[in-house]
Amino acid sequence: MSREIKSVDYGLEKIFEGAQDFLPLLGTDYVEMYVGNAKQAAHFYKTAFGFQSWAYKGLETGSKDTVSYVIKQDKIRLVLTTPLSSKNPINEHIVKHGDGVKVIALWVDDATKSWEETTARGAKSFMEPTVEKDAHGEVVRSGIYTYGETIHMFVERKNYSGIFLPGFEKWESDYNPEPVGLKYIDHMVGNVGWGQMNTWVKWYEDVMGFVNFLSFDDKQIHTEYSALMSKVMSNGNGRIKFPINEPAEGIKRSQIEEYLDFYEGSGVQHIAVATDDIIKTVSALRSRGVEFLSHPPQAYYDAVPGRLEEYSHKLREDIETLKSLGIMIDADDEGYLLQIFTKPVQDRPTLFFEIIQRMGARGFGAGNFKALFESIEREQAKRGTL
Ligand code: FE2
Repeated sequence: MSREIKSVDYGLEKIFEGAQDFLPLLGTDYVEMYVGNAKQAAHFYKTAFGFQSWAYKGLETGSKDTVSYVIKQDKIRLVLTTPLSSKNPINEHIVKHGDGVKVIALWVDDATKSWEETTARGAKSFMEPTVEKDAHGEVVRSGIYTYGETIHMFVERKNYSGIFLPGFEKWESDYNPEPVGLKYIDHMVGNVGWGQMNTWVKWYEDVMGFVNFLSFDDKQIHTEYSALMSKVMSNGNGRIKFPINEPAEGIKRSQIEEYLDFYEGSGVQHIAVATDDIIKTVSALRSRGVEFLSHPPQAYYDAVPGRLEEYSHKLREDIETLKSLGIMIDADDEGYLLQIFTKPVQDRPTLFFEIIQRMGARGFGAGNFKALFESIEREQAKRGTL
């Protein structure tokens, strides 16, 4: 499996030259989830994942329709939003999709130009460039639709010094569990319907100026029972990476199909967050009640030294510790990576998190796909959805 990644991983800089950085994107600004109960969701992400209270908008700040909690850990900002009455259109999103990611917000220098450039290239507008102001200055935001009902917001905040966005106030809480070492969003994966992967690959190329720098077909990503296809899209500076998955035919139901059935459409499958000490981070997450997929079998760990040797990389971590935590290891020419996947973080088997530590490798754990998917299939079997 690792050998297959090698054939496509030829000089990222060269590939990125193909990207047109007309936006350009400075990084992920925030990720907003629409949830049924933002207050409880915020408590969960603070307690279990070590996010910190950061900003708040609700009845007390003059927001009559919605309440939003902003929680933060290093560079990661999550916004949890719930409507306050049945009339708010956010309800429809929650009824249809359950809790899930609505907005992947991208930090830009010029939100007006970003909207103009992308809509001129075929993006469907979600929100025209809008200036929001308060005592701390102004923010310009604009938005476009991507797959499903998911949105990309462009956020221009160079003239703003407030805590988050106009309308938000600092959220002071007496309850502040320690962070677990999550640093930034490494990538966010979208699941799209049958035959739609290439449509969205082309959309990211044409509309956003991204390039497709890694591809995996169903011959590479399959188990005995199910399969999927995946293409990784990146912006010009490589800071934003969006793999796009679609289901492929197998003997049984692909995990992507299960997602599409329960999310009732395309949407964000997982958010991969980086740490520079995965052993410490995962130990903390486990002790705080975060549930991970079942451990890979012994045979998986038996094969790890050989995989690393193939690329002459030396594992710095103790393999027995990694094994006891269920952390997976993959290698490519440039280095290795350590990763682990949570179970879905809500009752529908939809959104989950990945914790990743990169030790030089820039791939996505292709060598782990089989072990990972077999683990997901064990969960699907329990749910009766395989
Ligand atoms: Fe991932």
